Amino acid sequence: RMNGKSELWDLFEKHFPVVVNELCTAPVDAGTEIQWSFDRIKDLLEYNVPQGKRTRGLTVVAAYKALAGENFNDESLNLALTMGWTVEILQASFLVADDLMDQSKTRRGQKCWYLKPTIGYQAVNDSMILESCVFTLLRNHCRGKAFYADLFDLFHKVILSTEMGQSLDMQASEQPTVDFSLFTEAKHAAIIKYKTAYYSFYLPVATAMYLVGIRDDECHTAACNILTKIGSLFQVQDDFLDCYGDPEVTGKIGTDIEDNKCSWLIIKAVQLASPEQTCALQENYAKKNPENVAVVKQIFNSLGLKSVFLKYEEDTYKSICDDVNNFQDSRIPHSVFLNLLKKIYKRKK
Ligand code: FPP
Ligand code: MG
Repeated sequence: RMNGKSELWDLFEKHFPVVVNELCTAPVDAGTEIQWSFDRIKDLLEYNVPQGKRTRGLTVVAAYKALAGENFNDESLNLALTMGWTVEILQASFLVADDLMDQSKTRRGQKCWYLKPTIGYQAVNDSMILESCVFTLLRNHCRGKAFYADLFDLFHKVILSTEMGQSLDMQASEQPTVDFSLFTEAKHAAIIKYKTAYYSFYLPVATAMYLVGIRDDECHTAACNILTKIGSLFQVQDDFLDCYGDPEVTGKIGTDIEDNKCSWLIIKAVQLASPEQTCALQENYAKKNPENVAVVKQIFNSLGLKSVFLKYEEDTYKSICDDVNNFQDSRIPHSVFLNLLKKIYKRKK
């Protein structure tokens, strides 16, 4: 296809209004006043959910197709499409809250939700509404099915992991002083695994696994190990793009330097910097002033962090390919992992 979008994309696209309609229809006995809140859910969903790359949602459907084999029919396709949007709504719930916490300006090429004049701190409640929508969809479509308890547990566990990761990510953010001794590779590995990798890569594939009845711990653990490795590479790329990405392409403006984030770039910079450069980083990191930010970026450039990143990306890509080759369980075709890896390798957005 000319636009690079797939048939799956079209199917997924068509299913979004179905999900929106379900979530903003009030129960018949709800009364007229609360109708306003239900109507508002439509705006909330339409502004915050469909504008992304949809990688996570499409992964649910693609993985389900790959795992279900001949058991794949229209009914199961519909369920997979709904679960795909469920994961996208969870992602929206996280992003609405994250943009408020990070004081970001734009997301997916539009103004962050909390910055809209009639929203403000209401975004906190809206993030929680989006999270509740996740469990409404699970209940409506899976209650009574064999995998309901598994999916329910999975979503709860992954949400808590993400919140724990976010908490570690915010640790330095709210500190007025710069303390690079807090920024270790081990801490960074934990932040990115928890705040991003579980929900972005394990959750969509694990959802598909439970839908087809794969529920043993060994298989989930083995898949989770590879998927969180892919997810961690994805977040290192996000850290890199925060500084080196084109906002026109990524749809967002980086804030990691201003926000005192334990990002992959600052960890590499501190490892490679001379004593003078370390001093300058210390004086200029975590400041809102664009002049301070420019000094930090200039040091990143002179340390050659772009090529350090490109080498890291290539090495990690190869190492994950090896892991996939060593993955033994025939219930999960290697293509499930490799398609994801291919999709993110050398990504610009
Ligand atoms: C983005 O990281 C981080 C996340 C998507 C995780 C956010 C998690 C929460 C807000 C927990 C709150 C939980 C609920 C249920 C609302 P980033 O800031 O590095 O990514 P960015 O570059 O896209 O902003
Ligand atoms: Mg953010």
